[in-house]
Amino acid sequence: MQTVGKMKLRLHQFLSKTGHFSSKRDVKQAIWDGDITVKGSVIKDISFQFNPRTKPVEYRGQLLELPNDHTTFLLNKPVGYICSRLSQQERSLNKRSVFELFVDSVDPSTYDRLLTVGRLDEATTGLLLVTTDGTLVHDITSPEREIRKTYEVVTRDEVSSKQLKSLQQGVEIHVEDSGVVTSYTSRPAVARRVESDLLQLTISEGKKRQVRRMLEAVGNEVIHLHRLGIESLILSDFELGDGEFCPMKKQEISDLVFQH
Ligand code: URA
Repeated sequence: MQTVGKMKLRLHQFLSKTGHFSSKRDVKQAIWDGDITVKGSVIKDISFQFNPRTKPVEYRGQLLELPNDHTTFLLNKPVGYICSRLSQQERSLNKRSVFELFVDSVDPSTYDRLLTVGRLDEATTGLLLVTTDGTLVHDITSPEREIRKTYEVVTRDEVSSKQLKSLQQGVEIHVEDSGVVTSYTSRPAVARRVESDLLQLTISEGKKRQVRRMLEAVGNEVIHLHRLGIESLILSDFELGDGEFCPMKKQEISDLVFQH
């Protein structure tokens, strides 16, 4: 898989990429005129090399940024990985984190900034976006956006019509936030029985262990949970094996996730 994001850029390259200047000549002129500062110091050397992630650049006092300085991957999450950095305790228990899957494919600075877009349980498989873009995380996980996530759910027992109807209408689940447990009624969901013990379930919210709790609430149990898609972003369109990932362009995500 490709390495994304160079650590260092030359000042004139950085300025050209910002889209703020109409020509290379304007870029050079701004530098020679002393209008550009890097981390507060005027730099008049057009070839000055620096890391734009750690050194802010200003033009006459205005902060300049690269338009798309973010990296996003679509991962087919394998079973047995957790969606956070490992604590000491988790390390001692030999837990594995999804971020490990990227360690050899991105530069260290990108690696450190990777976030998961929401979380899948350790035992859940399937579509997971991993990104450096905190705004993307917010836009997809924010409850007000009601972004639809579709899961394949293998259940312990046959799903009865009554259970199916309850899931569709909303069920009372217990949600835990910072150690405080409250009761919550799930929003109406789209639930379709594919086989007697196999459901396709679409929910537009993402409480912790929500699908597992919804199935428990109707007296059943999740045996396996796999995320098939987020809105029109469908994992099977990408032909990724377990643990494989591919880079995603912001525009692709925008077209597939937000145009609904
Ligand atoms: N709902 C769950 O219960 N677990 C997940 O991993 C995702 C949704």
